[in-house]
Amino acid sequence: MTLLTSEGDVRKMRECGRIIREIFPRAEKRIRAGVSTADLDREIEDIIREQGAEPAFKGYKGYPATICASVNEVVVHGIPSDDTILAEGDIVGIDVGVKKNGYFGDAARTFTVGKISEEAARLIEVTRECLSEGISQAIAGNRVSDISNTIQRIAQREGFEEVRTFVGHGIGTHLHEPPEVPNWGARGTGPVLKEGQALAIEPMINTGTRNIRVLSDGWTAVTTDGKLSAHFEDTIIVGRRKAEIIT
Ligand code: CO
Repeated sequence: MTLLTSEGDVRKMRECGRIIREIFPRAEKRIRAGVSTADLDREIEDIIREQGAEPAFKGYKGYPATICASVNEVVVHGIPSDDTILAEGDIVGIDVGVKKNGYFGDAARTFTVGKISEEAARLIEVTRECLSEGISQAIAGNRVSDISNTIQRIAQREGFEEVRTFVGHGIGTHLHEPPEVPNWGARGTGPVLKEGQALAIEPMINTGTRNIRVLSDGWTAVTTDGKLSAHFEDTIIVGRRKAEIIT
């Protein structure tokens, strides 16, 4: 766990966040039917390098790309490909990590391609709400599970299921640090949050079963029932009264 104890540390994290925040609207402009996820990957890698930063995922445990691009039933870790062409009605999760000045930022958004189904739209809205309500629990003195339980409750209230196989995480001078931040669990358990602690909170919510399997490429995680999945993630800094969202 990295504790951001000086204004300098916080500024470096904010710089990572600024770069990621610039990426999403630029990616969104390119997202339309006919564009491949490899096109998006190249564009986003260029933006990151333009900013004097490095893609944090590339080479991480052998991951081959800058972004994860997860279409429809792909939950997370979709590998960008020239053969994955977006089509009208798709939803696509774009997950991006950057490293600059020794610090990391990590965030994801789920975008839409043209006109999508009502259920897809509701899934995206609910997943976004899971993230924002989860973040509202990231206050010093609360426990990790206050975030987790809030996410689980919102997903289930809407008749959706939260993915349990993958979790959010601490972040700072490494992409993944303790503690794990699950998207489910009983309130009042797990580590107590500290002011200045950076977390990547990342609900992955499915319209059907929460169960996933990983394809033979070793990365791509899909829902076992082929139903839709959405993913939103922000890097935040735990505050005394509220969290600071940096991405
Ligand atoms: Co993450």
